[in-house]
Amino acid sequence: MLSKKMEKALNEQLNAEAYSSYLYLSMSASFSARNLKGFAQWMNVQAKEEFAHAMKFYDYLILRGARVTLQGVAQPPADWAGPAAAFKDTVAHEEKVTAMIDKLADLAVAEKDHASREFLDWFVKEQVEEEAQANEIAQRLNLAGSSTGALLFMDHELGKRGKG
Ligand SMILES: [Fe+2]
Ligand SMILES: [Fe+2]
Repeated sequence: MLSKKMEKALNEQLNAEAYSSYLYLSMSASFSARNLKGFAQWMNVQAKEEFAHAMKFYDYLILRGARVTLQGVAQPPADWAGPAAAFKDTVAHEEKVTAMIDKLADLAVAEKDHASREFLDWFVKEQVEEEAQANEIAQRLNLAGSSTGALLFMDHELGKRGKG
């Protein structure tokens, strides 16, 4: 059985993952408004992945016989100055989420809740991937600088995500 403390913390992470989904969907809409269809597609796929993360917490809570308590999802920003600004925020957001997952894993260890610790391992690994991919794109955007050609090339490349 999950402790009340762990139940509360896992519900909070469910909410944080739902916010991540909302944040990236908002970035997708912001890119769409600029006709950056590839960046929009990439963020659309990312938003779906984050919702799948939220569902992993949902399913785990149910599996452990705990209560799922859905909280309000905070309003994300509506617009970014461009892809470089959005990906800078993405890197910062993923670093924040990594710190949250680490804290959750610390709690699982402190509570000797090995099932939850093992469940969280997947997220520990996933955050390494998420930070790496966000950093790679942010760095390439820095290299692209003010080159429209480079930006449109990246738009084309990122648009392939989720399309086989
Ligand atoms: Fe996530
Ligand atoms: Fe993420």
